[in-house]
Amino acid sequence: MSLVNRLIASTLPFVPRAVIGRFSERYIAGPSLDDAMRVVKELNQTGAVATVDVLGEHLTRIEEADQALRSYEELIARIARERVDATISVKLTALGLQKDPAVCFDHMRKLCAAARDAGNLVTIDMEDSSCTTATLDLYRKLRREFPGVGTVIQAYLRRSKADVVTLAAEKAHIRLCKGIYIEPRPIAYRDPDIVRANFTDLLATLLRGGSYVGIATHDEILVWHALRLIDELELDRSAYEFQMLLGVDEELRRILINAGHRLRVYVPYGAHWYAYSMRRLKENPNIVGHVLKHMFRN
Ligand code: FDA
Repeated sequence: MSLVNRLIASTLPFVPRAVIGRFSERYIAGPSLDDAMRVVKELNQTGAVATVDVLGEHLTRIEEADQALRSYEELIARIARERVDATISVKLTALGLQKDPAVCFDHMRKLCAAARDAGNLVTIDMEDSSCTTATLDLYRKLRREFPGVGTVIQAYLRRSKADVVTLAAEKAHIRLCKGIYIEPRPIAYRDPDIVRANFTDLLATLLRGGSYVGIATHDEILVWHALRLIDELELDRSAYEFQMLLGVDEELRRILINAGHRLRVYVPYGAHWYAYSMRRLKENPNIVGHVLKHMFRN
């Protein structure tokens, strides 16, 4: 992030919550499960599939993980009942990873079992680098029992090359993204060109190894590289999918759908919309400029 962008991002805590809320509307389905279901139905009508995330994160008490599990169970039931095309995305910290890993594993087993029984699939989101090893370990433990469970690899992490070699050999279900958290340089590449090159290398390793990959990016050069690889490897459309965030580059989304690729949109919803919005905004200070303009206009 450039110095100017860092400066812009540092103004965020002073932007009124209501302004962030109004601006976040396009990135978040809304506070309730009904909102999420409405957005998923709209996406399905446009030919996109979805993955739904119940916004939570950073528990203060382990008991809050029970509520997160209940919200996910309710979500899985609604998806099955209303026959929409959507999977589940979950952050392990919302289920207690950093408070009590044993409780987190137990909750994840229940969640994966509920998804399996409903014919659904779970992807474990990847959080900051303090969670990477624990997330991959828990993912592997779950996968013995639930072969459909997937997780995420972040191309900005220096360790990802080694992780991907092992995951590709396991024919894992992987969402590949650049990575959203601000990490120290010894842990993550800072140079956007290196992150892109690494993304393409990791994607090639995963696809060549026969993993199912969710290619999660709005960066058109990466989409171009992915399409080139898909062609070169003569992959069937069922071997991969593209993934994008709700509210980001709907035009690129349409281009990929019209070309016949499976396209999944990440749909966050829930009461904890503020932390999610702040992260998205810090990641992309270009949008912060718009938020500030919005604030002064109103
Ligand atoms: P880049 O950031 O370069 O964006 C490319 C272009 O897309 C930009 O120029 C801009 O136009 C547009 N764009 C990108 N983000 C935007 C935004 N928020 N608002 C408006 N425009 C935007 N990360 C992580 O660490 N763990 C995870 O589990 C996940 N999960 C995940 C799921 C899915 C489906 C997606 C698409 C992404 C994630 N991410 C994630 C986030 C990911 O790591 C990354 O931060 C964002 O996708 C942005 O990176 P791009 O590859 O899109 O490139």
